Amino acid sequence: MSEPVLRIENLKTVFRTNRGEVPAVDGIDLALYPGEVVGLVGESGCGKSMTSLSVLRLVPSPPGVIAEGSIYLKGQDLIRLTEKEMCRIRGKTISMIFQEPMTSLNPLFTVGQQLVETLRIHEPISRKDAREKAAELLAEVGIPRPEKVVKQYPHELSGGMRQRVMIAMAISCDPEVLIADEPTTALDVTIQAQILDLIRERNKRCGTSVLMITHDLGVVAEMCDRIAVMYAGKVVEQGTVKDIFRSPQHPYTQGLIRSIPRLEGSRERLYSIPGQVPVMNNLMTGCRFATRCPYVMNRCREELPELTERNPRHYSRCWLEELPQEDAI
Ligand SMILES: Nc1ncnc2c1ncn2[C@@H]1O[C@H](COP(=O)(O)OP(=O)(O)O)[C@@H](O)[C@H]1O
Ligand SMILES: [Mg+2]
Repeated sequence: MSEPVLRIENLKTVFRTNRGEVPAVDGIDLALYPGEVVGLVGESGCGKSMTSLSVLRLVPSPPGVIAEGSIYLKGQDLIRLTEKEMCRIRGKTISMIFQEPMTSLNPLFTVGQQLVETLRIHEPISRKDAREKAAELLAEVGIPRPEKVVKQYPHELSGGMRQRVMIAMAISCDPEVLIADEPTTALDVTIQAQILDLIRERNKRCGTSVLMITHDLGVVAEMCDRIAVMYAGKVVEQGTVKDIFRSPQHPYTQGLIRSIPRLEGSRERLYSIPGQVPVMNNLMTGCRFATRCPYVMNRCREELPELTERNPRHYSRCWLEELPQEDAI
């Protein structure tokens, strides 16, 4: 296999609060190979956004700080770069789509002005050519009448249109890696599907590698080649979409799969994993899922299991040698 385009090694991102250190990302490893779509999934509060913000070096600091680890983008450790060097990479080699487009769109400038600005930061291109390219990019993300939209301000657009504009900005300089953090969570279902199609299309046509962050396993099943499941700052399971859906090896993943809403009309009540993601602190021992796990054993509360290979390239962090599989869903 080729080298990963993005490789996260033992990343630890903590918040220094007056109640002590909160480990939001607690030593995760993750690789993204060229052309791959990898899903990072887990419930809210698991550390997914902090992982993506760490990669772009956008962790709010203080109180956040990347305490340990390396993030290699095409072999270069981003942790070691200066802010100025990082600015050259953000938006160019790696870019990000957020859940809320207004975090990356400026309300004071028109869509066209912002696209032109982004293009001209990274490429030697005249204002006139940049304006043309801006309209082309809007057309590419399926915006009707781009020549009108370039003159509009973000607040004049619908949520779905704003999300498209943000994607246009994110892909404007042909990034090799795209990180999409819950890109469709705030949108209507029909718009969600269109936005996911757009990201997938970009992946297929340009070979852009995508790290897809979501709490929605349905999105992952449709979009991704591989998945990493995150729980309380740690990766608890990793493998191909096929292997994970067919035979999840971690009770948390099994719970997430069970929680996927079934077809309408199904009589079964919607399942949700009992309990909540624990409030993280640096005194936690044992498996983080122990408090909610239906298979918990004494050992689980005391010792944290390692992430081990269960089947070829399928990893799980669990003391159970074999997880009882539920009936086919
Ligand atoms: N500003 C902050 N100060 C302290 N802790 C924070 C802050 N932002 C996030 N966290 C903690 O980091 C953890 C991970 O958050 P996040 O990465 O946003 O989760 P996710 O994206 O998976 O929902 C959470 O448990 C949260 O308590
Ligand atoms: Mg998040």
